[in-house]
Amino acid sequence: MLAVDHLAPLTHEGTPLDALTREGLVFGCDYNPEQWDRAVWDEDMRLMREAGVGLVAVNIFGWSWINPDRGVWDFAELDEVIDLAHSHGIRVNLGTATASPAPWVTTRHPEILPVAEDGTRRFPGGRQGYCPSSPVFRAYAAELSRRVVERYADHPALAMWHVSNELGCHNALCYCDASAVAFREWLRARYGSIAELNTAWGTSFWSQRYSAWDQILPPLAALSLRNPGQLLDFQRFSSDQQLELYRAEARIVRAHSTAPVTTNFMVTAHIRALDYFSWAGEMDVIANDHYLDRRLPDPIAELSFAADLTRGLAAGTPWLLMETSTGAVNWQPHNLAKGEGELLRNVVSHVARGADGICFFQWRASAQGAEKFHSALLPHAGTDTAQWRSVLEVGRTLRALQPLAGTRVASDAAVLFDWESWWSLENEGRPSDDVRYLDQVHAAHAALAAAGVSTDVVSARADLSAYRLVVVPALHLVRDADADRIARFVEAGGTAIITFASGIVDEQDRVRLGGYPGAFRDLLGIVSEEFAPLGPGQSVTLDDGTTGTVWSERLRTVDAEVAARFIDGPAAGLPARTRRTVGAGTAWYLATLPDASAYRDLLSDAAEAAGIRRNPVAPGVEVVRRAGSDRSFIFIVNHTTDTVEIAAHGRDAITGVAIDGTAVVAGGAVRIIEEAS
Ligand code: GAL
Repeated sequence: MLAVDHLAPLTHEGTPLDALTREGLVFGCDYNPEQWDRAVWDEDMRLMREAGVGLVAVNIFGWSWINPDRGVWDFAELDEVIDLAHSHGIRVNLGTATASPAPWVTTRHPEILPVAEDGTRRFPGGRQGYCPSSPVFRAYAAELSRRVVERYADHPALAMWHVSNELGCHNALCYCDASAVAFREWLRARYGSIAELNTAWGTSFWSQRYSAWDQILPPLAALSLRNPGQLLDFQRFSSDQQLELYRAEARIVRAHSTAPVTTNFMVTAHIRALDYFSWAGEMDVIANDHYLDRRLPDPIAELSFAADLTRGLAAGTPWLLMETSTGAVNWQPHNLAKGEGELLRNVVSHVARGADGICFFQWRASAQGAEKFHSALLPHAGTDTAQWRSVLEVGRTLRALQPLAGTRVASDAAVLFDWESWWSLENEGRPSDDVRYLDQVHAAHAALAAAGVSTDVVSARADLSAYRLVVVPALHLVRDADADRIARFVEAGGTAIITFASGIVDEQDRVRLGGYPGAFRDLLGIVSEEFAPLGPGQSVTLDDGTTGTVWSERLRTVDAEVAARFIDGPAAGLPARTRRTVGAGTAWYLATLPDASAYRDLLSDAAEAAGIRRNPVAPGVEVVRRAGSDRSFIFIVNHTTDTVEIAAHGRDAITGVAIDGTAVVAGGAVRIIEEAS
């Protein structure tokens, strides 16, 4: 249980998370007391203390609570909630309340409602019902956040500011008239002249040449394929507009408060509209929301990937899981409960990959509203439940893991990730619908994990000099400077593994002529003459006995060795995998998606050759290391039902029991071992 009476104001020295992790890793939740009668709040506080909750996100959807009508402000309940949390030793992650406009706002200003791709307006009644470019919405949001910040900036319970909520979750792409005006301004700033824009978008094609700015629209639904340059720039613009919303509020917050400012990212498989690498530098704490996506073939592999990417956004420093669920969500077709031990396994996976705190959506399961069937820390059935007991276990674990705070995951390998490549690769008129960006990136990440290689997921613009091995999956859109950096990394002794669909277009989505893979042709010493994608379910066999799916192509080597050839399929007899020694390093090309074991073996051999220290591997078991200057922890998460034995020396970080050579981890269990130095 947390001690009370110790809530001195945070000093905000060191990193923002340092201040919050002095007694344990952060254990927090969204707290929505406005959904409940006042009488419930005291029980909330008592139970939060019992569970060890130390941080609550409040006022996230508070607009109609504190500003129920035009010019009407009522902070009485929010005051009381924050004071109550404070008196119970619980810190507050305070929302600016701008996530969802109150009904009076949209009734008064229906023009702020977003417009979909087909030109139809969306009505209020859900959430986030506003156009991100609307000056009217922005003015109201600025006033609301200013009032909240002025009122609570000096409250001693304040730990951080939570700007809006999941910006762009539902309204990332708006096609209304205000968006059109803002899009034109954005394009004008980017290109300066209509002539430049015509060149950039290749508007000679299909008679699309513009003669004035006001002819340019957002890429509304059309009769045929749309202009890819326009689509790509609209995606960039839309990400920038959402970031602008964050910036506008963060500026207001920072004018009045020194507390850290953040917003919750959505690094998940189903949200792709926000280029978070361009956002990350503006956050005082990188915070992510992650829910297991049961629609995917391997939800756990996706969790690991998302956590590694979140760490990449945090440039390797500890980050905060701002939302996750204790059990089922309510927005997938089948909302599965978590199995025994799964909650703790998920929590530990995030911590293993660099999270210094875990927060949940939400504290108490709602009795009403659209999320009444979403799990919470405190379930509908109350505290005499297995769910509540597993929540208590999470609280105890996060507290016991305090010595981990501030440590980092050290990786010698990286996978490059790039939102612009995701957008351009999957826009209309592509060679194969089966080449999905995330599939390719996930496959590379999973193969490294299966080979026991800890992997950072970093931007295509990142400095690579600290790595030995870099995998470049489907990096479709590449700037010259980024291709050069990858080439220099190899020359200096690195190993790069570049896959098909990489290097194809430039920043303007213009094909790099002279043969694929354009930007990497010289580095790899190959020329690919023609794409030869595989049909649905089709696979090809290589002369080393492995198989490939999704893709093949007709390539020839110019200055590279052929490591394997296709023996069947549309590229039979041609190279399927090539290798070239460049300076002190090696550059590989993969012209098909290897089957999982072939991919694992390939990356395992490459890691071995690159001298990378590997984690012990066992199928279905996650093993990750986090280390600080004077300590190192090994995390073992057993996703199987069988007991496994993993080599380790040290002391169990939870029980204190000595581990002398072998850690025994029961089926479904986790172990965190502080390694003997
Ligand atoms: C997030 C959101 C929360 C809640 C949660 C449910 O997208 O920020 O408010 O809706 O999902 O899973």
